[in-house]
Amino acid sequence: MIELDHNRIPEHIAIIMDGNGRWAKKRGLPRSAGHAAGAESFRRAARYCRAIGVEYLTVYAFSTENWKRPEDEVRGIMGLLRKYLDEALRDMEKEQTRLRFFGDLSLLTPELRELCERAEERSKNYPGGQVNICLNYGGRDEIVRAAKHWAAEGCPELTEELFGSYLYTADMPDPDLLIRPGGETRISNYLLWQLAYAEMYFSDVLWPDFDEREIDRAIAAFQSRDRRYGGVK
Ligand code: FPP
Repeated sequence: MIELDHNRIPEHIAIIMDGNGRWAKKRGLPRSAGHAAGAESFRRAARYCRAIGVEYLTVYAFSTENWKRPEDEVRGIMGLLRKYLDEALRDMEKEQTRLRFFGDLSLLTPELRELCERAEERSKNYPGGQVNICLNYGGRDEIVRAAKHWAAEGCPELTEELFGSYLYTADMPDPDLLIRPGGETRISNYLLWQLAYAEMYFSDVLWPDFDEREIDRAIAAFQSRDRRYGGVK
């Protein structure tokens, strides 16, 4: 039994949902089955984070590099997103969770883009927690995009705070905790600016198996660490 301090639940958790392919391979299933199980794991994680009071959950669903994957795999992931968005739009009133999408959505099909925009628009005033889905997202791409906005506004006096206001995460706190299941210990171009002070939690458990207990483990590790933000205590 993992004991959590419910007064110190991270306000913002970011997750790199890695290991779907290997999960499927281990079972002799196609990679698409791994992504389907990964999408299920995402739903479960979002429900659980919300239930324990995590205010923001940001997940990496598709990177700017993921287009290099075989066409049918890309199509499969987009299909899962579409299914998720259809359900989210259907259940939105009940769930009261705000949904946001980070990334360059211009490369998605017009249909998928429209679903993302509709979900964002309809949920924007909900009081519940917020789920951010990174789609065709890259950390460097986000920083370049922010720099272009700043330049387009005539290069106003630059501070970290001002620069942060051009990022997708403008109106929210930085992640307190980054979770990467799947055994790799890299950031993979994820939230490069925002992870400056995040605690990192890496696990060998593959994402489809990353259940509530694994999230508790990650939060317990977070709570056992001493965050100093470069200072002393
Ligand atoms: C990484 O695992 C996972 C992805 C590139 C896709 C993540 C997508 C989902 C979880 C499904 C759709 C999402 C939502 C929000 C409905 P991998 O394929 O790189 O695994 P591997 O390293 O074992 O090959």
